[in-house]
Amino acid sequence: MIKSIVILLFCLFSARILSAQDAERNTFIDGLLNEMTIEEKIGQLNLVAPGGFTQTGPTVSEDVEEKIRNGQVGAILNSMSFDVTKKAQEIAVNTRLKIPLLFGMDVIHGHSTIFPIPLGLASTWDMALIERSARIAAVEASAHGINWTFSPMVDIARDARWGRIAEGAGEDPWLGSQVARAFVNGFQGENLTDPSTLMACVKHMALYGASEAGRDYNTVDMSRVAMFNYFLPPYKAAIDAGVGSVMTSFNVVDGIPATGNKWLLTDVLRDRWGFDGFIVSDYTSVNEMIPHGMGDLQQVSALALKAGLDMDMVGEGFLTTLKKSLEEGKVTEKDIDTACRRVLEAKYMMGLFADPFKYLDSGRLQTDVVNARHLQAAREIAAHSIVLLKNENQTLPLEKSGTIALVGPLADNKDDLLGTWVLVPDRNRTVSIREGIADVAGGNVEILYARGANITDDPYMQSTLRLSGPSQEVDPNGPSTEKLLDEAVIVARKADVIVAVLGESFAMSGEAASRADIGIPESQQELLRAMVNTGKPVVLVLVNGRPLTLTWENENTDAILETWAGGTEAGHAIADVLFGDYNPAGKLTVTFPRHVGQIPLYYNHLRTGRPMDPNNKYTSKYLDVPNDPLFPFGYGLSYTSFEYGELNLSKKELTGNDSLTVSVIIRNTGGIDGEEIAQLYLQDPAASITRPVKELKNFRKLMIKKGEQQEVTYTITTDDLKFYDSNLDLVWEPGEFIIYVGTNSRDVQSASVNWIRN
Ligand code: BGC
Repeated sequence: MIKSIVILLFCLFSARILSAQDAERNTFIDGLLNEMTIEEKIGQLNLVAPGGFTQTGPTVSEDVEEKIRNGQVGAILNSMSFDVTKKAQEIAVNTRLKIPLLFGMDVIHGHSTIFPIPLGLASTWDMALIERSARIAAVEASAHGINWTFSPMVDIARDARWGRIAEGAGEDPWLGSQVARAFVNGFQGENLTDPSTLMACVKHMALYGASEAGRDYNTVDMSRVAMFNYFLPPYKAAIDAGVGSVMTSFNVVDGIPATGNKWLLTDVLRDRWGFDGFIVSDYTSVNEMIPHGMGDLQQVSALALKAGLDMDMVGEGFLTTLKKSLEEGKVTEKDIDTACRRVLEAKYMMGLFADPFKYLDSGRLQTDVVNARHLQAAREIAAHSIVLLKNENQTLPLEKSGTIALVGPLADNKDDLLGTWVLVPDRNRTVSIREGIADVAGGNVEILYARGANITDDPYMQSTLRLSGPSQEVDPNGPSTEKLLDEAVIVARKADVIVAVLGESFAMSGEAASRADIGIPESQQELLRAMVNTGKPVVLVLVNGRPLTLTWENENTDAILETWAGGTEAGHAIADVLFGDYNPAGKLTVTFPRHVGQIPLYYNHLRTGRPMDPNNKYTSKYLDVPNDPLFPFGYGLSYTSFEYGELNLSKKELTGNDSLTVSVIIRNTGGIDGEEIAQLYLQDPAASITRPVKELKNFRKLMIKKGEQQEVTYTITTDDLKFYDSNLDLVWEPGEFIIYVGTNSRDVQSASVNWIRN
């Protein structure tokens, strides 16, 4: 009783403190807004690029310095230099109202110490590690003067042709939600006034990952039921975790571009989900509503503001047209004030009015960027992100003796290990796979290296890749294709084992990097065929930013390691796994199809009335390829083996508020210690709308010592049974539920329960 009273008093007291803080903030911002001219208010809604590199579209703003001086800039995008950032802030705080700038940057998977691409981070299934990577990224970026990151990207992607699948957590909304939370917590920390944090920006709201045909910037068409059940949950999870800002997407949502979509930005994001931070457009996505067919620049800018957009990235539609729209009655001063207030609130919350230079302490550049602790974390996290796809005859781990032929255009390569979206990486600290192997293998291993192939010899692909900058795919001073191949065959013949490092260059995934064929490029496949033909054991190490089609590779190589683009310490981490210093435990968070024609292929699909039957013509199937994937969602092997015991359920009949306990004993039956990610899925076989065959609802990552076993216990409540029905209400419907537990989404055992209302 006394305890409850104390808690109650504490809550009342903290609510009073909070409201006192809110009141103080509101008084400050009201005062500021009263003093601001309409031009200054509109200026706060303008996000400009400082010019130069890292632009993902046209630069509109010229003379940025002059604009800051005139109060026409609220924030700066991707400022790469500490000195430029500092100078910009000095100019801003010397203006009439001294309003500080926000400095936003795409800090996506590390800042200068680079971690695996987000798809790799997700493959760790380890939220603590993901949060740690984001925390370190925030420490480094904030030491560089940055205070806002355009991350996390949480777009659910079911189409591996889409290059930006590299930037998200994969295809699952539940796992994607956990990852979204971990990123937000890592970036924002406990308190955004801490100068080692970044305000996060969840993107791209919404459905950007569902671009038709996997072609970037393409259109999207989706039912609201699908949005709410499968695509929106990770954005909502970021909002629930307190993300400070949201970025809109380039695509249409239900026929209206997201950037000007009132239903999305106001009805859903603000009214339904209670988001009270600010919303920024994507790069020129306001302007792009013109080609979408929504009117001229003045019309689309007014549409976006009215829809709920607060800040315009780069395109200056707000800057150049809102005043006119105000005069013509197309927007109100209140609309502008609301947006301006939200931007000012963010600045206030971050403590920038109190100290505009809090992120501009040059001393931190020496201590807080790429230090030994960060590099150690990068190595550990990269090792955890690696997924063992095949390991026949225990080809892996390799012995620390004998001769290894190390071949492939990605074996002695650094930039491609960093992957997409690295703006200020410390390239000198990047460890190539060749260097990593030399460091880890020790003196008893002889390593014979040959590049063996170009990343691609396809002239069309080379020409499109050149748009990303000088080609990384071909060594301009290197030997001819034939000579490259011959050199590789010579070293392979001398070796005990071949390690072939193949895949994609960094420019082959990420933004504007869609591929219609997601195989390993032909030049590298030729190398792999030549290696297989030597008859030596072949370990295929993949460096890539998306699921690849690997049917031939799976049939013809001895072992396959999916290492993604693993970041600064990828070389060491891959070597740690190759030699067994770390036993791999990563699992796929995206389905790997057998053939590109199966796409979209994802595990949590709806059922069909005519399920696949190979002996019945009129069933849902292809004539030439089986329906199932090569590697399912959740898949990943270990150097040891695990056996699952039978599922134990606490009850078979449940009512309303009951909770169900599911437990299973997992035994490490192999010869070494290892981690297992034990996954729990649910199916709702009959409901008011058709429900997926399976949905991930929980998992545990456990370390089990060799010969030992552990019991895993999951608790299921009616919250886990819920879905959005055709009225978009979140409901659970009584009846049978099937529970699956297993090592991946395919290899599971099941049990069913009956759950009725009270
Ligand atoms: C991308 C965003 C990114 C922005 C700023 C855009 O092209 O779609 O994800 O945050 O550029 O660099």
